[in-house]
Amino acid sequence: MNPLNHVAIIMDGNGRWGLKKRNSRNAGHKAGLNTVEKIIKETIKQKIRFLTLYAFSTENWKRPKKEVNYLFNLLENFLINRIDELHKQNIKLKIIGIKSFSNKLNKLLNASEKKTSKNTKLQINLALNYGSKFEIINAFKNLLKSKVKISEKNLNKYLQTKDIPDPDLLIRTGNTKRLSNFLLWQLAYSEIFFEKKLWPDFNEKDYSKIINNFRSVKRNFGNI
Ligand code: IPE
Ligand code: IPE
Ligand code: MG
Repeated sequence: MNPLNHVAIIMDGNGRWGLKKRNSRNAGHKAGLNTVEKIIKETIKQKIRFLTLYAFSTENWKRPKKEVNYLFNLLENFLINRIDELHKQNIKLKIIGIKSFSNKLNKLLNASEKKTSKNTKLQINLALNYGSKFEIINAFKNLLKSKVKISEKNLNKYLQTKDIPDPDLLIRTGNTKRLSNFLLWQLAYSEIFFEKKLWPDFNEKDYSKIINNFRSVKRNFGNI
């Protein structure tokens, strides 16, 4: 049985779900939040230590302003309403990505991270305004500035995922098979599962089925 310390998820398919069911992409984003809650619960149940959720990419700014604003409002309300509960459950929240949002949201994100920073049950890394290419270039810049040797180990220290083990498992919902600029470095040896269901339809049963499959895969890491 493979140990499972870190699951990363590309939560894709909200827009299509919303259009199909409610004639509104934003309704899909709202419904997607329920799936987030279910998946957090199941992650704790499965005793997984790290969960990374791709919520907004550096490329998602290309979307209509109305959708972008809706997404950030949803996030703001989620944090305002749920952070105490997450804290009570001993969950640590960490943001990966460039924190350049409204003053209000920046403050809320910083406060949520600070409040939960000592928690130990589960660490949720929320990838927000996250782009892997930017992260890697930035890491190289800082590595060169620091004048230490260029090595895999030293580069890791300058990534936003420093102190977090690489994902063992990547799941992408929404019936699309691509990485969309997510954790390109860290996913080098992850097991990848592409799920047909759209994110709002994905549930704890689908998730635990994937986890069970993952457990029995033979991971080689180049060995035989
Ligand atoms: C993923 O769902 C959520 C975000 C990118 C914020 P999408 O909004 O990309 O949903 P589809 O792919 O258009 O259906
Ligand atoms: C990836 O989904 C980003 C998130 C889930 C946050 P996208 O829907 O933005 O990806 P592309 O544009 O279809 O590749
Ligand atoms: Mg999409």
